[in-house]
Amino acid sequence: MFFEGAKIKKFSLLEQAEKAFKKRGGVYIRPEMKNFYLTTAIDYANGAPHLGHAYEKVLSDVIVRHKRMSGLPAHFLTGLDEHGQKVQQSAKNAGVEPIAFCDEQAEKFLSLCRLLDVSNDDYIRTSQPRHIKVVQQILQQLYDKGEIYKAEYKGFYSARQEQFLQEKDKVDGKWPEIFGEVTEISESNYFFKLKAYQPWLIEYLETHPDFIYPRFRAKQVAEFLKEPLNDLCISRPKERLSWGIELPFDKNYVTYVWFDALVNYISAVGFGTEDFGKNWPADFHVIGKDILVPPHSVYWPIMLKAAGIELPKSLLVHGWWMSSGQKMSKSLGNIVNPLDLVDRFGSDAFRYFLMREMNVGQDSDFSVDLFVTRYTSDLGNDLGNLLSRLLNMTHRYCGGIVPQARAEDNFEKDLKSLAAETAAAVLSHYDGMQFHIGLEKNFNFIRAVNRYAEQRAPWKLAKSSSEEDRLALETTLANMAEALRLGAVLLLPIMPKIGAKILTLLGAEVPKVYDGALAWGDSLAGVKVGQQEILFPRPAPQE
Ligand code: ME8
Ligand code: MG
Repeated sequence: MFFEGAKIKKFSLLEQAEKAFKKRGGVYIRPEMKNFYLTTAIDYANGAPHLGHAYEKVLSDVIVRHKRMSGLPAHFLTGLDEHGQKVQQSAKNAGVEPIAFCDEQAEKFLSLCRLLDVSNDDYIRTSQPRHIKVVQQILQQLYDKGEIYKAEYKGFYSARQEQFLQEKDKVDGKWPEIFGEVTEISESNYFFKLKAYQPWLIEYLETHPDFIYPRFRAKQVAEFLKEPLNDLCISRPKERLSWGIELPFDKNYVTYVWFDALVNYISAVGFGTEDFGKNWPADFHVIGKDILVPPHSVYWPIMLKAAGIELPKSLLVHGWWMSSGQKMSKSLGNIVNPLDLVDRFGSDAFRYFLMREMNVGQDSDFSVDLFVTRYTSDLGNDLGNLLSRLLNMTHRYCGGIVPQARAEDNFEKDLKSLAAETAAAVLSHYDGMQFHIGLEKNFNFIRAVNRYAEQRAPWKLAKSSSEEDRLALETTLANMAEALRLGAVLLLPIMPKIGAKILTLLGAEVPKVYDGALAWGDSLAGVKVGQQEILFPRPAPQE
């Protein structure tokens, strides 16, 4: 019901585009055949998965599930960033080969995805041949075009950050702690002509205000581009770093990790094959704010431009989960292990919390107390309680069969109009990445259904022997069931398991798309409901 208009419009635009393209003699890929393509950052293989990784996956998954339910075919990629000094070092410390170390890490990151019900279609690892092949192909192409040159580099180098430093990186005459040991080196390396594209990039960003979401993040990029860019050193001599992708034109070097890692977005979807256009350009690269400047907003657009590849449509830049105002990080030792919370509360409660608390793009403070509060009040008292009282009364008063609504009064009219308003508002907030508001609206609705039950008081009506009260009782239970069905459909992208469980307990179908599932109706009348179940048990006190 919500998408009919959109379909008609899309069709005529499509035909026009197709005609125009055929005139130019091109092979046309119908846009409707292109998937909504979303990627996450690929996680560094050197550390253990933490809350930040979990959040990025869940946010991406919620977006993709929402798109799929909106009727768009989607392709969802995530993966692991395996090369570089830190991984080489971690493997050495563990006494294993880098690839064996990465295999183990991949298991951990993948099991986090499975645990959180992340519905990725593919998982790319930068050690895979399909990726290595494309990185080398791009490097060779850029080298042949003269976009890459060799030059002597003399200066400072931080092995810990895998980065060349300049005097201006010093603070109070000293190298900041984060660089670790800094050594003076002189070596030949390969450079990518970043600087030549600076004016193009500035203009591109100015003329494509939707490229970076939320928009305020673009300021940071503009600031960075006020200073002249240096060409990017894209090689590391093998004697220093062997765990990387060999340059196709010089076997004494491997590729700089960022140049390697960014290419995953195209290598995973078959760059260079016919299938590429089914996904590329990506609709969203979902990334954290720390990797916007310079990798995703400067290196990546310029790499693509230089290689003659279309740019992604937009970068979705999320904020950080903080712990008492500080970024969670391995070195600060304030990392929340998502596995503990999922163990205690279940993955859907965890997903709910992340999406309810974080305003996409901003930072948010994480606290277990807040988690427990949301869990007990929103999930337990509001949602869980609605389901349990409804199932309970349906069994007690109606033999476990959802009755037909037959007597409509003002309470019912209000409930129905709130349901319609809620469905429209929630979808539009989801469309606008305002998941926290969408959820707030849906839970306001859930609370309103509980209030409706209080107003109608079916437990009192059940004591009466009048026909009128019986009709009112049945109407109330029917409406509570229908309202909860709608609320559960709207929850599906965020809480896929709980949403499906509620629908199944109500004897309803679990819809693949919103279309047709969000209209108020009586599809539940005559349906048998399931047995009472506690969806959100009280958390056990922690030792
Ligand atoms: O940056 N809160 O990998 P990574 C929210 N391999 N998000 C956080 C976070 C926090 N506290 N900490 C990290 C890398 N993240 C590269 C990416 S892409 C071609 C290569 C986010 O494991 C971070 O912003 O350090 C990034 O988007 C993702 O987790 C992976 O971080
Ligand atoms: Mg990081």
